Amino acid sequence: MVEDAVRRRALLDGGIAAVAIGGAGLLSGSLTAAFGRDELTPAAAPGAAAPAPQAAGPAPTVPAAQVPVGGSATVKDPASGDAVYIVQPTAGRYTALSSVCTHSGCAVNPPKDGQLYCPCHGSRFDAATGAVINGPAVKPLPTYAVSRNGEQLELGPQQQA
Ligand code: FES
Repeated sequence: MVEDAVRRRALLDGGIAAVAIGGAGLLSGSLTAAFGRDELTPAAAPGAAAPAPQAAGPAPTVPAAQVPVGGSATVKDPASGDAVYIVQPTAGRYTALSSVCTHSGCAVNPPKDGQLYCPCHGSRFDAATGAVINGPAVKPLPTYAVSRNGEQLELGPQQQA
């Protein structure tokens, strides 16, 4: 009687272990199958061509009349989607500055009194050049080319520092 109980218990334990091992095998087999399929997709295959970069749209423009001396107009960098300030620091001279603070990435305020102020930690940048006036930022704001086409100002590519 006791032996039967022990034998039944041993069979029961063995059965549970067998089910557990079998389930783990099935699970690993299905995971292998799922991951194996992904490895065969053309984009992930070794030597496959990288996806083509997205075509840039037309260059952002703004009427020059909307950029007063000392003021700015906001356009969007088509590559990053970040706001860019087109500014006219002195009469007839235009430049464009990224709105992304080089300290920790906050949005700097539009130019005022010749400076752009970052409200996060207080950095100030020169509105004519993007240079740091005071930190904690240590790198200047990235600049962009600006060209005038009639009454329109067109944002050009970001300039290399
Ligand atoms: S993110 Fe601009 S000063 Fe810190």
